[in-house]
Amino acid sequence: MSRELKGLVLSGGAGTRLRPITHTSAKQLVPVANTPVLFYGLEALRDAGITDIGIIIGDTGDEIREAVGDGSALGIRATFIPQSAPLGLAHAVLTAEEFLGDSSFVMYLGDNLLRDGITPLVEEFRASDPDAMILLQHVPNPSSYGVAVLDGDRVVNLEEKPAAPKSDLALVGVYMFTPSILDAAKAIAPSARGELEITDAIQYLIDEGRRVEPHVVTGWWKDTGQVEDMLEANRLILDVMEPRVDGELINSDIEGRVVIEAGARLVNSHVRGPAVIGRDAVVEDAYIGPYSSISTGCVVRRAEIEHSILLERVHLEDLDARVESSLIGRDVTITRTDAKPRAYRFVLGDSSVIGLT
Ligand code: G1P
Repeated sequence: MSRELKGLVLSGGAGTRLRPITHTSAKQLVPVANTPVLFYGLEALRDAGITDIGIIIGDTGDEIREAVGDGSALGIRATFIPQSAPLGLAHAVLTAEEFLGDSSFVMYLGDNLLRDGITPLVEEFRASDPDAMILLQHVPNPSSYGVAVLDGDRVVNLEEKPAAPKSDLALVGVYMFTPSILDAAKAIAPSARGELEITDAIQYLIDEGRRVEPHVVTGWWKDTGQVEDMLEANRLILDVMEPRVDGELINSDIEGRVVIEAGARLVNSHVRGPAVIGRDAVVEDAYIGPYSSISTGCVVRRAEIEHSILLERVHLEDLDARVESSLIGRDVTITRTDAKPRAYRFVLGDSSVIGLT
């Protein structure tokens, strides 16, 4: 394959399983270890030598454009491609037809994270030059994914989120395609959920006798579509992050793998890593426990937190119990007051989830 590969990153979609965060914000911009999920994918493509990247955007397009800019900060050249409606992954490919031209490309779902990146896989694709290459992983819950059946090294069947999966091999959200996928996307009909499924388009290539190569990924892979997955991805990334202290520690101590960004201030506090405290955050008389990501401008005062992600400017103050396994959206405030009668007082957005113990 002589021609340069392009990248196609999907960053539309409603993110219904991450509500309420996604009522106001793109799921691909939820931070994992204080970096938007989407950026890990863009960096994985760049590291594989793919810098000409189309980004499919939907309702949250403005926010994605603002976060990525022209892509130069990430070492890529970004072209934004609006999709009229979230009508499926194969529909997204068709939307990008003009950008793709006659190039082969790597399609990367913007909420997927692969620990080992994709560089060797892209090299394998370039070297063996099949019509398409799919990445697979054994999972305990295959009916939540596209599922593949292999016969040795051959893909024989693909099915999107089957009720009765024929194998435990899930389709990872990274695909390598030649332009033949465009013909396939045009040939298929929408699925029962009304979407043009990429899974069906790849099945069409198989039915047409095209060469579709499978590659079973062994390093960890996360589709961060749900809160638990987000928290797990956060754990996995924090576990391998380089520790660094650029902020200020006043009568405070840190243990283990911890990043304190510039402008952050810790006063009379204890941080047990792995954890990251973002720029200009204030942590006072507080405990930050393992697997916590505290974003820019958060305030945690007389409170304890662990195994959680706080988005920008969250304010936690005077809490009796430790906050854990939580994903808290931008500008949320949780405080205790002396107002009588003693009561919970909530101002919550649609689909908020509160767990009291
Ligand atoms: C999509 C694909 C599915 C794939 C998954 C990987 O599902 O349709 O085949 O296994 O991504 O993340 P979605 O999560 O968009 O429903």
